[in-house]
Amino acid sequence: MKVLIVYDTNSTQRNTEKIATAINEVLKARGFEVDSLYVNNMDPTNVKNYDCVLAGAPTQGMKATKPMMQFLDKFAQNEFTGKLGAAFDTQLKAWWSGNAAEGIEKKLKKLGFKAIVPPLVTYVEGMSEAVHLKDGEIEKAKKYAEDLATKLHQ
Ligand SMILES: Cc1cc2nc3c(=O)[nH]c(=O)nc-3n(C[C@H](O)[C@H](O)[C@H](O)COP(=O)(O)O)c2cc1C
Repeated sequence: MKVLIVYDTNSTQRNTEKIATAINEVLKARGFEVDSLYVNNMDPTNVKNYDCVLAGAPTQGMKATKPMMQFLDKFAQNEFTGKLGAAFDTQLKAWWSGNAAEGIEKKLKKLGFKAIVPPLVTYVEGMSEAVHLKDGEIEKAKKYAEDLATKLHQ
């Protein structure tokens, strides 16, 4: 079972990358072959080589960042039917924040991926370059990855 984690990250704190790394570490420890790649370093023609794709991005303007959506827009409807997928994001905890993960999941489903677990939402706090993950969010991502690993092994 080959897993791809593809993520966007924007701030110098690289919070979304930290979530991707936490998921990567758990999945590797559970015996999966995992590649974790920054979206702009990902060759779209390689996506077909994976059985499961986890896509994550920061929430900006209440939705997933452009590089992630532009990446997903490169594929055709139902191109990945038969593969598994899941979405994750980082966002502020605010009533207006929107939700990148939901948008990514919706797009993954259009591309044919079957959602293996619900989207993972993780929270940041602080402004501009001081933006950082709230306490407990790395642990939350690790727990999510454990649940994901269990489902992938089933
Ligand atoms: C231009 C801009 C727009 C943003 N818009 C939102 C938003 O609509 N909702 C939200 O929850 N967070 C918003 N944020 C906060 C980002 O979600 C936060 O900076 C991001 O999760 C940090 O992840 P990163 O370190 O991986 O870049 C915004 C941040 C920037 C810089």
